[in-house]
Amino acid sequence: MKVFSGSSNRPLAEKVAKKLNLELSPLEIHSFPDGEKRIRVEERVVDEDCVVVQSTATPADSNYMELFFIVDALKRSGSKSITVVIPYLGYQRQDHIFRDGEAVSLQVVIEALEKIGASKIITFDLHSIKIPEFFKIPIVHLSALEMFGLKIKELAGEGVLVSPDMGGIRRIKILSEQTKMPFATIVKDRDLATGKVESGKLEGEVKQTAFIVDDMISTGETLVKAAQLLLSKGANKVYAFATHPVFSIKNTQNLYNSPIEKIFVTDTINIPQEKKGEKLEILSVSGEIAKSL
Ligand code: R5P
Repeated sequence: MKVFSGSSNRPLAEKVAKKLNLELSPLEIHSFPDGEKRIRVEERVVDEDCVVVQSTATPADSNYMELFFIVDALKRSGSKSITVVIPYLGYQRQDHIFRDGEAVSLQVVIEALEKIGASKIITFDLHSIKIPEFFKIPIVHLSALEMFGLKIKELAGEGVLVSPDMGGIRRIKILSEQTKMPFATIVKDRDLATGKVESGKLEGEVKQTAFIVDDMISTGETLVKAAQLLLSKGANKVYAFATHPVFSIKNTQNLYNSPIEKIFVTDTINIPQEKKGEKLEILSVSGEIAKSL
């Protein structure tokens, strides 16, 4: 087996390779002055099972293009199979038509990957349980929830798990079963055109420590608003867990200045140094990926 890394999350790819007792195989990723990329496989891959690790987070378009070219280069170089590890699957929130006239962006990138020659996909905590149905090639859908459950148990013997929106109920029920902890839900309102989080209403009671669990942090608005609501309803402390640190805002201080005690995320996305903060703890998914290869 040979493991290759795109440029979006090399630290994770290195950890995965290390867990498999391998070195990353060399890949030339050249950027031209106009931003176009040229990819070249620098090692013989004929009849080899190849793995590519690439998160398609910000900048999603450029990370996807790079991934397409890596898969194409491996295919043309004679590889036997190409397992594509996309720890964070970009465009997953555009998985259906919300308003007439919209594109289903996720379907487009999936079809491209399949057409180019990906044999199998490995990914984490998809936004919707229906997404695997979009793929015609095998997909392994892994989750950080078990890791989060262990961390929650380590932090507190008791408390309440909270889903910050109705879309996260399935996730919170799985975690509740694992940890034997009760759960509550927030009914979140989002403006469909702007995406802004507008208001929230708590369903259930949270008088102890609250553990908000979400799939991703993008602007951080969902978490900050949920934490404020929970504290106003009687929670004594709020911790936050989210698999994907999308961190789409330039300045993450809002998140770190919020009343949230600590924010746990994973390394499905490589976080630039300037977006890290003392409240942030990063758990690695490399072990889960290595096990599934
Ligand atoms: C939404 O449905 C997701 O599960 C997350 O809650 C959301 O994407 C987080 O976005 P933001 O951090 O911008 O509020």
